[in-house]
Amino acid sequence: MTAAETAASVRPYQSYVYAYPHKTAYRPLRPRPALGELWAGEDQRALSLYLHIPFCEVRCGFCNLFTRIGAPDGLTTAYLDALERQAGAVRAALDGGARFATAAFGGGTPTFLTAAELTRLCDIAERRMGADLRAVPLSVEASPATATADRLAVLAERGTTRLSLGVQSFVDAEARAAVRPQRRADVEAALGRVRAAGIPVLNIDLIYGIDGQTADSWRRSLDAALAWRPEELYLYPLYVRPLTGLGRQGPAGPAADAEWDERRLRLYRQGRDHLLGEGYEQVSMRMFRRADAPGAGVPTGQGDHACQTDGMVGLGCGARSYTSSVHYSFDYAVDMRQIRAIVDDYVARPAEEFARAEVGHRMSGDEPRRRHLLQSLLQAEGASLAEYRARFGTDAEADFPAELARFAARGWLDASAAPELLRLSPEGLAHSDALGPELFSPAVRAAMADYDLK
Ligand SMILES: C[S@@+](CC[C@H](N)C(=O)[O-])C[C@H]1O[C@@H](n2cnc3c(N)ncnc32)[C@H](O)[C@@H]1O
Ligand code: SF4
Repeated sequence: MTAAETAASVRPYQSYVYAYPHKTAYRPLRPRPALGELWAGEDQRALSLYLHIPFCEVRCGFCNLFTRIGAPDGLTTAYLDALERQAGAVRAALDGGARFATAAFGGGTPTFLTAAELTRLCDIAERRMGADLRAVPLSVEASPATATADRLAVLAERGTTRLSLGVQSFVDAEARAAVRPQRRADVEAALGRVRAAGIPVLNIDLIYGIDGQTADSWRRSLDAALAWRPEELYLYPLYVRPLTGLGRQGPAGPAADAEWDERRLRLYRQGRDHLLGEGYEQVSMRMFRRADAPGAGVPTGQGDHACQTDGMVGLGCGARSYTSSVHYSFDYAVDMRQIRAIVDDYVARPAEEFARAEVGHRMSGDEPRRRHLLQSLLQAEGASLAEYRARFGTDAEADFPAELARFAARGWLDASAAPELLRLSPEGLAHSDALGPELFSPAVRAAMADYDLK
């Protein structure tokens, strides 16, 4: 088989590697380690803070994120109370000199919270955790219906530098097909409110590969987004995963999958070329940044390459935290009943329960090298071999010879890159979701395969 044939037979959409390892590789840590021990000796001078809000108004058909629909009376208050208790326990485990260099509120939909609740959320980040929100980049996710003027005013006033709006499609029929109940007129109104709030960086999320979407309708969504000159655009290939609304509608057969893969690849190339022609630069397979936009170094959330440094402090029941040797979180689920149970369990916990990690993955052996290579290689600018050597004292090419030879044989590496740089070719970037999983360790692969999705 020639290299081209091998490359053509690789399924391009295997998994979105926004964090390594994925939470499905996490397992109960026994005995539960004290956070103080996990954080002792870590460099805490430039940490990232992430606050997770697991509430949405609806459950979109494609979504497998950790979030529940709505909140019965009192639950958001109870959740903020629990966040405050957790913040106290976590802060006590950090050292006195700990400083936050970036912050992000994600979900779910953080703007499911009212304006007053968002004020309290910012207070928790500032007063309990000691993050200076007005001095560091602060990124917040929102949906169009919840991006109201009063909430945006609070967020802008507290120092939000990036607002990411989940639009998915400007075509109403596509939003319906993705089971994302929204109308274009409401999306446009929300975008107007975000711009009026004066938050410096607007990001718009769009999805391609939706049932009924054509080259024409994709172009219409892209142009509708471009009309707002967003500083950033994320183009996501649609994934239909088990236990989601679309997943429950029944899996397509292998022939349909192959056709769908082709269709998503075509839409990807169309979207990429269109944005490149409109003055955007490609940052990764999904991320595009307006070439003349401010905002370098603004965090995009929990999967961001800018947080390559290990110190991530996550608060909330769906948030991950990273030290150099352990990644940890709470239990994870996709099924609505299980998610509700995990949120209820989280809000009932006393402060001392937050002083120990619960589930996680130890970053031993070559895991930190795999993570570093994965995260840097999946960026359009490429992976610096010198940086890798400086961090680990070994050569990436000697550590992963088989994987890198395979990527090169498939035409996924840019042969014209400088010798000190491992950079993906345009086809390599297009196949990020196939290339990433090939760098998973056997242990992570086995843990993910064994995971009992609930
Ligand atoms: C936390 S959500 C964004 C904020 C907000 N909850 C919303 O939906 O408006 C993150 C983004 O991931 C993308 N996404 C989530 N699940 C996806 C899937 N199965 N396929 C493709 N994109 C997906 C969507 O574009 C979504 O906006
Ligand atoms: S896509 Fe956003 S709004 Fe929809 S369910 Fe997922 S997190 Fe909630």
